[in-house]
Amino acid sequence: MSRKIHVEILDDAEAVGRKAAARILAVVERKPEAVLGLATGSTPIPAYRELVKLAHERKVSFAGVKTFNLDEYLGLSGSHPQSYRQYMNRYLFEHLDIPLWQTALPDGAASDPEAECAAFEARIRAAGGVDLWLLGIGSNGHIGFNEPGAPRDCRTRVASLAPSTIEASAKDFGGAAGVPRQALTAGVATILEAREILLLATGAGKAPAVAGALEGPITPQLPASYLQAHPSCAFVLDRAAASKLVKP
Ligand code: PGA
Repeated sequence: MSRKIHVEILDDAEAVGRKAAARILAVVERKPEAVLGLATGSTPIPAYRELVKLAHERKVSFAGVKTFNLDEYLGLSGSHPQSYRQYMNRYLFEHLDIPLWQTALPDGAASDPEAECAAFEARIRAAGGVDLWLLGIGSNGHIGFNEPGAPRDCRTRVASLAPSTIEASAKDFGGAAGVPRQALTAGVATILEAREILLLATGAGKAPAVAGALEGPITPQLPASYLQAHPSCAFVLDRAAASKLVKP
């Protein structure tokens, strides 16, 4: 079977960041009112750093751009230092001319989280849908907090973190015990509706999940495998993350 997902394998995480930043910038240059889907985690940091640099160098304005982030920890307000809102402000939004009110993350401290999830979906629809969604991948194959078992048709909702995800986040919360057990996350269906998807993966720890997502069956057990059915999806990998591909 020929692979529908476009795969690019680069030397290292910095090269992956440069490639992702160039693609995001191209989308914004073509469409100054672009709607971007964004991700947190360690993987996109080089991409955000490069995006800021390129936007300044080429004088590309983000004043008309709207952004939607994948997820936020349940119970954390946007002012909590470990919230994804703080991460996004720190690594990206503060360095661009995008008004903060055009940047959306689910509110982890919402009094009615289910209503907040529905409002998040409605806000994406009202913006006209996402032009490009930038994703990372968990070592267990999750996208957003859509952990193994997440169905293809799930939408923005409160989801429980898998044990390996809690472990991976432990360093940010002074140990696993401090990691929130749940999060508000865009669903698989929400993500798949983006017109274009760009998944980044770096490091050998991601190699089995990347291989499964690209070369295994489409299965809820590895949510990133749902991306095989997307008409316009690219994986940008460093050599280590690509190291378990049978057909690189
Ligand atoms: P990471 O997380 O970039 O910190 O590895 C990615 C993810 O879990 O989606």
